[in-house]
Amino acid sequence: MADTILVTGGAGYIGSHTTLALLEAGHEVVVLDNLCNSSLESLRRVERICGKAPLFVQGDIRDRAGLDALFAAHKIDAVLHFAGLKSVGQSVSQPLEYYENNVAGSVILAQAMAAAGVFQLVFSSSATVYGEPAQMPISEDVPTGTPTNPYGRSKLMVEELLQDLADSDPRWRIALLRYFNPVGAHTSGLIGEDPNGIPNNLLPYVSQVAIGTLKQVSVFGADYPTVDGTGVRDYIHVLDLADGHLKALQAISQRSGVSIWNLGTGVGYSVLQMIRAFEQASGRPVPYQVVDRRPGDIAECWADPTKAAQELGWKAERCLAQMMADTWRWQSGNPQGYAQ
Ligand code: NAD
Ligand code: WQD
Repeated sequence: MADTILVTGGAGYIGSHTTLALLEAGHEVVVLDNLCNSSLESLRRVERICGKAPLFVQGDIRDRAGLDALFAAHKIDAVLHFAGLKSVGQSVSQPLEYYENNVAGSVILAQAMAAAGVFQLVFSSSATVYGEPAQMPISEDVPTGTPTNPYGRSKLMVEELLQDLADSDPRWRIALLRYFNPVGAHTSGLIGEDPNGIPNNLLPYVSQVAIGTLKQVSVFGADYPTVDGTGVRDYIHVLDLADGHLKALQAISQRSGVSIWNLGTGVGYSVLQMIRAFEQASGRPVPYQVVDRRPGDIAECWADPTKAAQELGWKAERCLAQMMADTWRWQSGNPQGYAQ
């Protein structure tokens, strides 16, 4: 029997790819999104790809009455909770917005779920909760650290409050998925990442340089103790990430309490390796200039993905060349993102 899944933030980058994967797997999907950082066009394109559409509700996770109406109108079996704000820099200048959307919003969502008798929740967390990790690769038993910004703290707060919630009531079945660095796009080139304004993250920036929207990449520091001095991260294809959510959903139907899984590849690449790989995939030059380190950045960060492999039977399958090729197909086919 197909379950009905509520996807908060389902019009966004990771949410739209996961909504597609859910529809393709035969689930019914209800998307709740306030469209503050996304466009309905992503869901129209999901329908173009798979011939099925999610039911869309424009609304806010902070609106308890709206959530109650949604849960009354639809028999929801589980919630994938992507909705939230994600810009690290903006979180420093507007911390209350971040705590309200990410923390208060998650509290209100959990309250509405409990009132509706829905206790299965998959939460989008981040490797940022490890702070400056003492060991590499990072496994889930590495204690959480001190995130360096309000965005990261909001993710850690939600993890902790969900743990308290599960401790208080054994009906809860919660997955905390700690994503490493999501990149890439659907192989159709129809859906992908569409950042607002100038991108903060490396790959959207690199792809906008390759397409000619931006002039050159600023490489934030070349004096880290890494392979070539530039920062190393664990980039993971968004389609692998989407598959990880389906596996997590399956797993929590069989286990109660809180389960934590890293979603990463286990392999790190440097900024310069990323730039070179993108030049190869796109056939375009990506000029860059080394500038000062970005405050708050760590030298390197990659996952130990063993736990997800053992417990979920999930492993990232897509290599760096595919991440780059899919990003380029999306970027070159949609130079203005969804706005055209
Ligand atoms: P995104 O901004 O593309 O998607 C988030 C979606 O949530 C958007 O469609 C936005 O309109 C919606 N939204 C925001 N606040 C809302 C609210 N109060 N009520 C209803 N809808 C709301 O971001 P994404 O990259 O798809 O990230 C999804 C989730 O994964 C976020 O929680 C993010 O913090 C987390 N995450 C992202 C990354 C990353 O690098 N992209 C890494 C780790 C974790
Ligand atoms: C990657 C590498 C930069 C941009 C952030 C959040 C994290 C998570 C993912 C949500 C680093 C370098 C970047 C540029 C550069 N988000 N860089 N020039 O910092 O690993 O993680 O996004 O949860 O919480 O902190 O990702 O893509 O910004 O940077 O040299 O213009 O690229 O220094 O080494 P990061 P990123």
